[in-house]
Amino acid sequence: MRNVLVTGGAGFIGSHLVDRLIGHDDVHITVLDSFEPFYDPREKEANVAAWADLPQVQIIRADLRDMDAVQEAVTHPPDVIVHLAARAGVRPSLEDPVGYQQVNVMGTQNLLELARLWGTPQFVFASSSSVYGTDPNVPWREDHAVLRPVSPYASTKVSGELLGHVYSHLYAIRFVALRFFTVYGPRQRPDLAIRKFAERMRDGTAIPVFGDGSTRRDYTFVSDTVDGILAAMNYDAEPYAVFNLGNDRTVTLTHMIEALERTLGVEAVIDRHGPQPGDVPQTWADLTHARNALGYHPQVPFEEGLERFVRWLDGR
Ligand SMILES: NC(=O)c1ccc[n+]([C@@H]2O[C@H](COP(=O)([O-])OP(=O)(O)OC[C@H]3O[C@@H](n4cnc5c(N)ncnc54)[C@H](O)[C@@H]3O)[C@@H](O)[C@H]2O)c1
Repeated sequence: MRNVLVTGGAGFIGSHLVDRLIGHDDVHITVLDSFEPFYDPREKEANVAAWADLPQVQIIRADLRDMDAVQEAVTHPPDVIVHLAARAGVRPSLEDPVGYQQVNVMGTQNLLELARLWGTPQFVFASSSSVYGTDPNVPWREDHAVLRPVSPYASTKVSGELLGHVYSHLYAIRFVALRFFTVYGPRQRPDLAIRKFAERMRDGTAIPVFGDGSTRRDYTFVSDTVDGILAAMNYDAEPYAVFNLGNDRTVTLTHMIEALERTLGVEAVIDRHGPQPGDVPQTWADLTHARNALGYHPQVPFEEGLERFVRWLDGR
């Protein structure tokens, strides 16, 4: 039996990962989540509702900032930790940089320390494409320098990768950082553009568009991200590794809105604003390393992913 600890398991990406892990008989899953109110916690409660009576899953409501509480609550010392819990989102991090630092950096430090105490050999960390900042050399490769982040959120993810390197160097903890590229799909966070736009377009309200529509994102469907996480849980080559988990295709904001219009069958009303501080002009993943070392091959093209997302939205 493999004990897996998923922090942030009640959230968007975490709940999809746990759903997939439940399909494996030989794992016990500890979900650790604070159910914090960055967005409506009822969405997180709905994400975990189906697991309540499963002996294979234990749900712990605890805050990573409280290391003693986490240590006491986790009764199955993990063989692998998938650390997804975080204050997420670039723009809100400008409003509360200290809060982001406390959860994303101190929380990660606490969890690495607990990994050392538990003797956990494998630690998978949710990093972000935002660590590349405004690096103009696309597609981005993992060996590009990432010490020029442009938002508090991005800097916390760089810090998490650095902390992980320390623990992989000093202790027998393999640290695998996964740089997610704009993840979308069913249960997507309500603050993210595709969900926010789709909900407003269905209601006939205007969508706020920042900049001239030429910003580009490498949108990744959540089941592809989960494939990459599952592969990283079993990665056993280097003691420290970093992987891009993107879709290897970059889509402009204008194209994204047009594709949503087609999928929803409505025309968007656009409320245009200037570019936002902290936003980056483009994201684009080079997947060579993830393909070779993780066998990561994203399966879901953007238009098909949007259709699946809208089907979920319609069913809510
Ligand atoms: N969604 C994306 O496009 C994207 C892109 C890059 C990186 N990421 C990273 O992936 C991870 C998951 O993102 P998501 O989109 O699923 O976000 P999410 O907000 O849905 O999930 C994060 C979960 O962490 C929990 N959490 C927050 N603070 C906590 C604390 N102090 N203690 C315990 N739990 C806490 C929240 O309650 C939430 O359920 C995050 O680390 C995020 O930074 C996401």
